[in-house]
Amino acid sequence: MELKSFLAEKKTLVEEFLKEALSEKPLANNLWKAMAYSCLNGGKRLRGILCLSVFEALKPNPNNWKKALPIAAGLECIHSMSLIHDDLPCMDNDNLRRGKPTCHIAFDEATALLAGDALLIEGLGLCLQADLPPKILLTINQEIIKSIGASGMTGGQMLDLNYTNLEIKELEILENIHKLKTGVFLKASIMSGALAAEANELELKAFEKYALNIGLAFQIIDDLLDLESDSVTLGKTAGKDLAQNKNTYPKLLGINQSKLKAQELIVEAKKALLEINISFPPLHQIADYIISRNY
Ligand code: IPE
Ligand code: IPE
Ligand code: MG
Ligand code: MG
Ligand code: MG
Repeated sequence: MELKSFLAEKKTLVEEFLKEALSEKPLANNLWKAMAYSCLNGGKRLRGILCLSVFEALKPNPNNWKKALPIAAGLECIHSMSLIHDDLPCMDNDNLRRGKPTCHIAFDEATALLAGDALLIEGLGLCLQADLPPKILLTINQEIIKSIGASGMTGGQMLDLNYTNLEIKELEILENIHKLKTGVFLKASIMSGALAAEANELELKAFEKYALNIGLAFQIIDDLLDLESDSVTLGKTAGKDLAQNKNTYPKLLGINQSKLKAQELIVEAKKALLEINISFPPLHQIADYIISRNY
């Protein structure tokens, strides 16, 4: 199957699940509206797709991997929270996301803040709803929580802000920020699929390597797209990183070196799959897509 149709099929499943989970509730109507506004009908759904794909690679029967759908949807809720908060005036102060006004523009700041909070909590709740053995659910949720907490995405976002307007000269520092703010949650999305499929130790190690490499590559490409693409294609404001004096890979290494670095990471990611003889083509193709994508 071509990657395009593979991604579209998985995306539709995640969308349908999300639509149901976020259908308007009678209380605090504005809150659910803002949550649905920011979480439905947009986004590549890469984190949810990765979770399902890794599960499918290990257990191809749909009766198995579809059990992870609540987790895939939960991951996308949590990811949407991170975008709403990232766009707030006190963070990156962005007014365009997924081709629409950002949540705080379409609603207001307080509603956006609360919509983010609620998506995070509802997302974690969804992750617990998967029909999997409780011990596995617990391990998956611990992995996700760790990846978004103070030693994960939230910590990374704090560092990103702390270093804004300060020039990072050491690659190690920038790499750490990128891994924390973006890489570790992508990794948790992949590991949740592997854990749900009861991967063995060797497989878990290999998926961790795959995940860490594509996680960092993903943010390097995000930096490059911000510099080289346009707002219509991206659905978010292009050129923001330079305008806001953010530390990025192209700023520190230059465009060519950053592209090379991302390519190297993808080679390493694919090697990890070969180490455990995973020949499920979509996982190799998704790794390539991380660097070939245009939004
Ligand atoms: C954007 O993530 C934010 C980063 C972590 C770089 P995506 O590029 O996955 O955003 P959507 O979900 O497709 O909109
Ligand atoms: C954000 O990185 C990472 C998140 C945790 C959301 P960016 O600030 O570069 O993401 P965009 O470019 O606004 O999507
Ligand atoms: Mg940011
Ligand atoms: Mg941003
Ligand atoms: Mg960016």
